[in-house]
Amino acid sequence: MEAAHEAILDWYGREARDLPWRRTRDPYAILVSEVMLQQTQVVRVVPRYEGWLRRWPDAQALADAPVADVLRAWVGLGYNRRALRLHEACVVVAREGWPTSAAGLRRLPGVGPYTAAAVASFAFGEVVAAVDVNVARVTERWGLGTPAELLPRDPVRAATWNQAMMELGATVCRARRTECPRCPAGGFCNARGAPEVPPRGANRPGAERFEDSNRWVRGRVIAALSAGEGLPDIGADRLSPALAGLERDGLVVREGDTFRLP
Ligand code: ADE
Repeated sequence: MEAAHEAILDWYGREARDLPWRRTRDPYAILVSEVMLQQTQVVRVVPRYEGWLRRWPDAQALADAPVADVLRAWVGLGYNRRALRLHEACVVVAREGWPTSAAGLRRLPGVGPYTAAAVASFAFGEVVAAVDVNVARVTERWGLGTPAELLPRDPVRAATWNQAMMELGATVCRARRTECPRCPAGGFCNARGAPEVPPRGANRPGAERFEDSNRWVRGRVIAALSAGEGLPDIGADRLSPALAGLERDGLVVREGDTFRLP
């Protein structure tokens, strides 16, 4: 395993993108980055992440912010429920302090196994594998063992390894456009040159256009209410179920015939 560790960590040292959340060990900043990155591309996250941290520099600041401000600041970053859960998590942290283990972090609202492991590894130096779909795909192609088995035992190397595996999955060992010729794992990867590729549209159930989805309507509602425009001009057959769902999730408040952010 030592040769694999050297190859991947050397490559990461040479080629890694300089991303702002890789220059901090602040658990709050890392949590914000990971939640934003769950559905938004890195290049789009960078400016939003920097603006967010200027506005709310720590968990206490975010916990003190009105939910409506937080939802407004999230517009364009995808699932609004994530913003709500991030706010709730910071309320818990402001009251009780940061859990420092992945197991403790998982008890925070909206923090799943991947995010908990990422924060525990990057902020607190726990030796734990952060496994998202990209990391799972890379390790499966290698065929050398599970992500936990492959993890270096030293905390600093483990954290760098977690970043490196994400970097490899994002830039070289991608789901579809793989770049085996320039991969640092070429010497030991079992799938080299012939990786399995997920079928086209595997991540688009039913290949529904985004504009046809309930999630799109929900996003339009939050964006319109944030901008003080009232409800968007979308047919009631699509608007009503979206509003009912948003109300149920605590993302909008109904007042008679009108709706507002909480
Ligand atoms: N995607 C999820 N987490 C990431 C990270 N820390 N760096 C780059 N891309 C990511």
